Amino acid sequence: MSLFRRKTVKFKELPFRTDVHSHLLPGVDDGFKTGETSLSAIEIMRNAGVERIILTPHVFPELYPDNTPSFIRGRFASLAPEFEKTGMKFRIAGEHMIYEGFEEDAEKSRSDLLVLPDNMILIEMSYVFESLNIKDSIFYLNSTGLRPVLAHPERYIYYSKSLHDIRTLMDMDCRLQLNLLSLGGFYGRMVKAKAELMLEKGLYSYLGTDLHRISQIDAIRELDIPWKYVPALEKLCEANDNLFDSAV
Ligand SMILES: [Fe+2]
Repeated sequence: MSLFRRKTVKFKELPFRTDVHSHLLPGVDDGFKTGETSLSAIEIMRNAGVERIILTPHVFPELYPDNTPSFIRGRFASLAPEFEKTGMKFRIAGEHMIYEGFEEDAEKSRSDLLVLPDNMILIEMSYVFESLNIKDSIFYLNSTGLRPVLAHPERYIYYSKSLHDIRTLMDMDCRLQLNLLSLGGFYGRMVKAKAELMLEKGLYSYLGTDLHRISQIDAIRELDIPWKYVPALEKLCEANDNLFDSAV
């Protein structure tokens, strides 16, 4: 092995062509506020090799009462022509908070849910309290033919490094999505350690930026990603590509 062989790679060197989790649809949640800043971030991503982005605004009626599927779809439709001038391809979906009553609300709007391609549905929980109905919701979604993907499980502080709880959810047919920034310690040392462990054990299905603001894409570009994680990350990048290409 060469003494000069680098021990890390940069984001641009990963085959990260598809982002499956982002808050780039402006003015709808705690993500990007204006179309201009979204376009700037999209341009930076394009220059780093990203070709396709799934927009996943938060869907949580208590916090974002306006974020109904029709409102989000309408907002996307009005901005998509401008966004697509960047050369990037887009799809619209949502990041669904699992709150008390989620299953009932999802049942009412089942044909209208903001799902990812291939009937996948991105779900999330509070970082500090596990949703009491997470297992019921995963069971419900699977029973309707939807395939839950839990966003950034490494960030939930109530899930220990033993990974017992996370494996229980996986056993219920819930997939997991890693946030790139978790690997850089952006959310703290514990989150980083958990993300590395889960990546080593092959527990993730997808990889996302969860981009909320422009400084985060700069931080992603600056990441020093250890070589030892590259094969696992390449697989996730490929899974991202396949997901984007799947039929709705
Ligand atoms: Fe998110």
